[in-house]
Amino acid sequence: MKYCFLALFFLSQNLFAMSNPGKPFGQTPAGESVTLYTLKNAKGMEVHIMNYGGIIQKILTPDRNGKVEDVVLGFETLQEYIKDTPYFGAIVGRFGNRIANGKFTLDGKEYTLAAQNNGQHLHGGLIGFDKKVWKVEAASAQSLSLSYVSKDMEEGFPGNLRVKMTYTLSEDNELGISYEATTDKATVLNLSNHSYFNLSGNAKRDILNQEVQIDASRLVAVNKVLIPTGELTPVNGTPFDFTKPHVVGDRINDTSSEQIVLGGGYDHCWALDKPAGSYAKIATVQDPVSGRKMTVSTDQPGVQFYTGNFLDGHLTGKYGVQITKRYGLCLETEHFPDSPNQPNFPSTVLRPGEVYKTKTAYQFSVN
Ligand code: GLA
Repeated sequence: MKYCFLALFFLSQNLFAMSNPGKPFGQTPAGESVTLYTLKNAKGMEVHIMNYGGIIQKILTPDRNGKVEDVVLGFETLQEYIKDTPYFGAIVGRFGNRIANGKFTLDGKEYTLAAQNNGQHLHGGLIGFDKKVWKVEAASAQSLSLSYVSKDMEEGFPGNLRVKMTYTLSEDNELGISYEATTDKATVLNLSNHSYFNLSGNAKRDILNQEVQIDASRLVAVNKVLIPTGELTPVNGTPFDFTKPHVVGDRINDTSSEQIVLGGGYDHCWALDKPAGSYAKIATVQDPVSGRKMTVSTDQPGVQFYTGNFLDGHLTGKYGVQITKRYGLCLETEHFPDSPNQPNFPSTVLRPGEVYKTKTAYQFSVN
């Protein structure tokens, strides 16, 4: 009898955990099945997420007239995501952003990574977390948990790393993404989400007329291969000052700024002003035409604000939109790039026995 109750208890837990079965979204070339889950709230907001790359495929949210449209770039089919994507909506890891020359030394040992971006490591390597099929741990109407075990030395990183992430859609139109990880050897870790937002709805226009505000008075200055120089430079008086809201396009071509020239626009990490380790609101984006507003909160020390400078029109996304330069903007909350080689930056080292835990949320509203 006792065992019968126990069995029922576990069965009901499992049913609850899988109360959202998702929809088949195709197969990878290796034959792994991918499922697409829709999270929905009572306000009419929807978030579509697949377990390939943990990719957020759609975020549907109302404009000021109640018209529900998609505010992220992406594709209609899995095959397009597999073939060629600039990380649309994906989780980047193990190390989001760049590591100089694809090398770092930890506890006296040098590790070599893929150096696929101008001779620098980018976003976890050739087959990063954005290209892995994640295990579905639990799926309900408003939440999805995915996990992945990255083997020791996968893409050159040490340690068997167990990662779990949970997406939660709240009734106040907030999409929260929380990450947890443990390792059995010292390693480095920097996870982020690479969604390209375009609040116009269904990517009707580029993002140059949208307004951005970032709570950061310093920029992680970079060199010509976008690796930090090690300096955190004041944004005051530069095109990087978003402490008050600014239209993205206003200063994006101000070539009197060396950093603008190096980034081909904005492609930099801002050092956030909030106290180290604290969770706070750090940025907003507003579209004056649709009235949509997005507020970003995180516990991370930095945010990479990237304005889609490398989007060159060779991809056609959802709604048949040709994705040209500046059609989306990313706010990748993270540790500073190249932290493993920069002793003065907050540490990205994770050791056995420690738990990596971080949370970022994107909240949508209108005005
Ligand atoms: C990040 C980088 C950019 C670019 C994109 C992907 O945001 O900072 O330079 O590589 O990813 O295209």
